[in-house]
Amino acid sequence: MKQARRLDNAPPYLFVEIEENIKKALENGVDVINLGIGDPDMPTPYFVVRKMAEAINNPVYHAYPEYDGSMEFRCAVAQHYKKRFGVDLDPETEVVALLGSKEGIAHIFFALVNEGDFTLVPDPEYPVYELATALTGGVPYHMPLTSGNGFFPDLSIIPKEVVKRSKILFVNYPNNPTGAVADLKQFQSIVDFGLKHDIVVCNDNAYSEFTYDGIKAPSILMADNAKDIAVEFHSFSKSYNMTGWRLGFAVGNKDAISKLKKMKNNIDSGVFTAIQVAGIEALKGCEKFVEGMQKIYARRRNIAINGLQKLGLEFELPRGAFYFWIKVPKGYTSKTYTQMLLDKTGVAVAPGNGYGEYGEGYIRISLTISDERLKEAFERIRNLG
Ligand code: MLT
Repeated sequence: MKQARRLDNAPPYLFVEIEENIKKALENGVDVINLGIGDPDMPTPYFVVRKMAEAINNPVYHAYPEYDGSMEFRCAVAQHYKKRFGVDLDPETEVVALLGSKEGIAHIFFALVNEGDFTLVPDPEYPVYELATALTGGVPYHMPLTSGNGFFPDLSIIPKEVVKRSKILFVNYPNNPTGAVADLKQFQSIVDFGLKHDIVVCNDNAYSEFTYDGIKAPSILMADNAKDIAVEFHSFSKSYNMTGWRLGFAVGNKDAISKLKKMKNNIDSGVFTAIQVAGIEALKGCEKFVEGMQKIYARRRNIAINGLQKLGLEFELPRGAFYFWIKVPKGYTSKTYTQMLLDKTGVAVAPGNGYGEYGEGYIRISLTISDERLKEAFERIRNLG
């Protein structure tokens, strides 16, 4: 069967490939330690699960959900934003519920990008910005993120012709995969660029709650005039260990949000209302829970620093998110080192080239695994000699 041309442009999703490799290893009896995907190993907080159990028994929630998210959910998001970032949001026009942030991120490309338009995406990047560009027939312009530029794009080097034809710019801070965190001044420069060139600027803020060494991640919407051009995406997956629930939201510029809603309303029918009810509970009770998670990731970050130093591997010290961006040893590519680790140690990692050209020569490991297994992973690699 022939597939549509747009699918020809889309490579297989990075984590599907990783999952397949892990599956093969498991079938061969390997005890795999999965440091690949960023899927929290700890359960959703009990108070959220309890609320869900109550909600699922309410027949009112068994009907179609409201397309844009229930007003209660959108108000809870607005209250959360006010409290966490000091940003005012109109729940009616500036908030939309998502089936996880990945879905919203992909759909905003469909809502804004025509065939042949440029999209400004970071490199390395969360693969969805690239895939969504490919599926819309857009042309990605890769903004290199290197240790030289602090993993923040240099907007001044983007050719004028590209800027003129660009419809959307994506950044992702706290950053996956590099662990960089943007400050408000940097976000202001992105917003000013978007306003100057009439390009919608989006920040994927899935890791907003995970930062280290006393840093607190800002929202791009805290920048002056941000709501005139910026949209921010959030996920419940990482902050509240809710990857399987598929819940997120987008907030910000009302024109962009309304176009995203139009796109979504024609494709999906909203988030199961009971899940939104549980999500409200997560937002209400988040502070204490998140504090506990921050401590756990900070502890694992220290385990990883220690393990990597002992291995003599070069890495970026993450200031946010829960990944380490690690240089592969001489003689390897991202792919060969990833495969060697899986074959010889049973440790699964994400190859850096899956995040773009500038990811070549790196691997990414995730801290979403128990302290013991994380230590064991480093031990196994050390035993390679
Ligand atoms: C990651 O590990 O980078 C992501 O969580 C995977 C995903 O969201 O698809």
